[in-house]
Amino acid sequence: MSEDTLTITDNRTGRTYEIPVENDTIKAMNLRQIKVNDDDFGMMSYDPGFTNTASTRSTITYIDGVKGILRYRGYPIEQLAEHSNYLEVAYLILFGELPTKEQYQVWEYDILHHTFVHENIKQLMHAFRHDAHPMGMFIATVAAMSTFYPEGRNIHDQDTRMKQIQRLIAKVPTVAAFSYRHSRGLPYVYPDNDLSYTGNFLNMLDKMTQVRYEPDPVLERALDVLFILHADHEQNCGTAAMRVIGSSHTDPYTAMAGAAAALYGPLHGGANEAVLRMLLEIGDVQHIPQFIKDVKNRERLLMGFGHRVYKNYDPRARIIKRIADEVFEVTGKNPLLAIALELERIALEDEFFVERNLYPNVDFYSGIIYQAMRFPIAMFPVLFAIPRTVGWLSQWVEMLNDPEQRIARPRQMYLGEEKRDFVPLAERG
Ligand code: SDX
Repeated sequence: MSEDTLTITDNRTGRTYEIPVENDTIKAMNLRQIKVNDDDFGMMSYDPGFTNTASTRSTITYIDGVKGILRYRGYPIEQLAEHSNYLEVAYLILFGELPTKEQYQVWEYDILHHTFVHENIKQLMHAFRHDAHPMGMFIATVAAMSTFYPEGRNIHDQDTRMKQIQRLIAKVPTVAAFSYRHSRGLPYVYPDNDLSYTGNFLNMLDKMTQVRYEPDPVLERALDVLFILHADHEQNCGTAAMRVIGSSHTDPYTAMAGAAAALYGPLHGGANEAVLRMLLEIGDVQHIPQFIKDVKNRERLLMGFGHRVYKNYDPRARIIKRIADEVFEVTGKNPLLAIALELERIALEDEFFVERNLYPNVDFYSGIIYQAMRFPIAMFPVLFAIPRTVGWLSQWVEMLNDPEQRIARPRQMYLGEEKRDFVPLAERG
């Protein structure tokens, strides 16, 4: 008997089955042989929310939720945040290796020279209401980009695929900045390709009448590190949406609009916006005890806490907390920080949170920094979507190149009515 198997005994029939184990995982399809009657469909696994189901093999991002480890292509997030920049990390995530000097120069040139969007996209965005949520504008505009680049449907041609990937990475800051300027009633600012990726984003957000915008280097670096921290996170909800939609072989713009739509949810990337609204609602440290009581009574969630994978401190939250101090040196301390620190102190001590492994996640402190940098709260999920673009696209490429992958089509347990005949209206009780 090989040791790399499970021996399953079906006590309903007394039959035993040898199920191969590979990488501590069994293939769900190997359960289908387990039947009571030969014409049965066969055994399935039931996993709402996919809490214990691997949907793919991947070599992009590694997370150890117990130890609080996050690595992109093997490099610890702490080292990348300390020594790299977002565009270099985007190259690493997409291609699997850190770029050489020459590779980086070509990559940076290609990205920084695709930052403009078609003028019709500007007009399309003008059609949104003045108070449209920037994330709604972002999602709709990314989907609309599929109509400007119809060749994007040619997903099996490597050169065409790479062109769309570069366009999306390059243009999402422009679309995000335009949605911000629209919500402020300000004229859109065109890209300045002499600035860095993140510096140009700040330029398109903040430039007013000055001839040339000069980003504050501390804020530029802080935002660039935040982009590094948000670049990928293995099979999260938004990335799973990217893979599921992409598995039908639609174009990357349409798939990514779906991924961004998933990210918008308050349980996912919308949590940073929800954290700020929670802190503003609490308003003062003295209101915290009542709020904690409401959380324990299941009337509220402590937004920015908890994670499906991390049952330890989210390593990104630790780095973000350090960035906060650097940003506040420039912007002045955010008064909400005191409330956040007190909430964290209580949550790290209180049995209710400790026994549920509820630690601060990436969204808890990022919103406080964004608010200190004068971003409106509604922009927070957009600030998450910009850097996550390379993660979504890299996972999409990995899915397309994986010979095992096919169109996503989960099964169900049907517990509804058995066959019954139609009842004419006149005879219904
Ligand atoms: C992101 O997956 C990723 O990688 C996502 C992300 C990425 O980079 O892509 O890391 C980004 O989305 C971070 C998560 C941001 N969301 C929030 O901060 C929203 C608040 N958090 C929760 O909604 C929740 O923690 C989730 C959704 C993040 C995780 O939910 P799970 O894994 O399904 O956990 P669960 O709901 O099973 O919770 C276990 C227990 C439950 O209590 P019991 O019923 O067992 O008694 O913990 C409780 C939950 O009620 N709980 C919370 C809580 N989170 C979980 N109670 C209060 N406040 C919370 N925040």
